[in-house]
Amino acid sequence: MKLPKIKILDEKNKMLRKVSTEVTFPLTSKEKQDIKDMITYLTMSQIQSEQEKYNLRAGMGLAYVQIGTPKRIFVIVEEIEEGKFKNYVVINPEIVSQSAELVFVGEGEGCLSVNREVEGIVPRCARITVKAYDENGKCYQIRVREDIAVAFQHEIDHLNGILFTDRIDKNNPYKNIDKMREI
Ligand code: NI
Repeated sequence: MKLPKIKILDEKNKMLRKVSTEVTFPLTSKEKQDIKDMITYLTMSQIQSEQEKYNLRAGMGLAYVQIGTPKRIFVIVEEIEEGKFKNYVVINPEIVSQSAELVFVGEGEGCLSVNREVEGIVPRCARITVKAYDENGKCYQIRVREDIAVAFQHEIDHLNGILFTDRIDKNNPYKNIDKMREI
């Protein structure tokens, strides 16, 4: 595989604080190519040999704003079995419903724009239902749970200029840990 030429912005970049704008259809050829590139990048980042070859950090999600275009698009690449990947292309998402149950990622949430260790937990809904559009402008609804639900919420935050670090209580990074389930 050839590593796409994309540059991922660092958390210090003010662009990441912008609220991304709604996308109109049909997508431009550049938008379609950027979506493909983000998927390829994430897939390669999860393949050990590519990871080593290009010195990549493993990532499962990327919002369009992270590569410099503040439009409401994100992609998620999930390894469903060894070497087999499922892609999610999510455009103009809206959360339709969410579980009352909260979870947090025990090893900590990661972000390709945050290149440092971060202490603390990020409360997330265990399950959410999202309405969105795919790259062809087709509307769909999807119910996601556990780590994929966390990834969706993390990426939707990006579309609103929010980083996961914002959701950690500065004075008490493990606040309410007993009220959530670790995943
Ligand atoms: Ni992120």
